[in-house]
Amino acid sequence: MKLHIEGFDEELGGGIPLNTVTLVAGTTGTMKSSLCFNILFNEVRLNKKIGLYISLEETFESLMGQMLSLNFDLKAIDVVKIGYDFSELRKNKDRLLKNPAKGGLIISDLGLVRRELAGKELAPNENWFHITKALIKELKELVGLDIVVIDSMSALHVLSQLENPRVTLFYFFEFLRDLQVTSFLISEIPHDESKLSTFEEEPYLADGLLKLTTTDRHRKVSREISMVKLRSTNANLDVFTLEFKGGKFRALYGGQVPVV
Ligand SMILES: Nc1ncnc2c1ncn2[C@@H]1O[C@H](COP(=O)(O)OP(=O)(O)OP(=O)(O)O)[C@@H](O)[C@H]1O
Ligand SMILES: [Mg+2]
Repeated sequence: MKLHIEGFDEELGGGIPLNTVTLVAGTTGTMKSSLCFNILFNEVRLNKKIGLYISLEETFESLMGQMLSLNFDLKAIDVVKIGYDFSELRKNKDRLLKNPAKGGLIISDLGLVRRELAGKELAPNENWFHITKALIKELKELVGLDIVVIDSMSALHVLSQLENPRVTLFYFFEFLRDLQVTSFLISEIPHDESKLSTFEEEPYLADGLLKLTTTDRHRKVSREISMVKLRSTNANLDVFTLEFKGGKFRALYGGQVPVV
């Protein structure tokens, strides 16, 4: 699957293998959400795929606001907002997407799920990992998902307060792979880049690790992108400069030291 970053997909040998899990790790404001949205948008528009964006950090409205400010033509694809009421989803299965054969983007935001769950306590053995898994599984059965974005794993951990996060994580990654979806899991990394994820297992468990950072050279800040690892491919692991211009992500070879 293409990441829809000009000059970068080519370096990965066309994109990433289908049905794998990629961790998108980046410091704050490095366009993690926008980059993942861009993948979903283009896969729906060009390849008629069905994508799910689970937004645990931002509301639907805030996410759409950011994507409109980046000039995504949201009218070009079918975008639907859903909650977590499974009986509603099942009842309206045929109306969930206008035409599933043409693909579509389903967005679930935490605010809506929270409102629906308000007053209903989670069972003692339930947590947000279970809720997220159930939602993905349900949509896979109802409409046949191709791509899932979780924004972010960091938020999922904070919400879940797991007693045994490592075991839960292991099964969560297994679950995503078994379900035959291509997943992108966003992870917030601290500014000093001392770690790439909330739990050190995440980069090991993932098939791919895409890293987004910023650097300042002579007070000019630029965005950087690199594929730190990509299992079973011969990807170029170099660091590239990332640009967003004219509605497109572009990677430029960043290996050269600028002339002072
Ligand atoms: N046209 C543009 N070109 C480049 N950057 C832009 C453009 N429009 C907005 N931005 C930047 O995009 C950033 C926000 O992008 P996004 O929300 O995708 O980042 P993020 O990594 O998900 O952030 P967060 O850490 O808040 O989740 C902002 O820092 C903003 O300055
Ligand atoms: Mg974000």
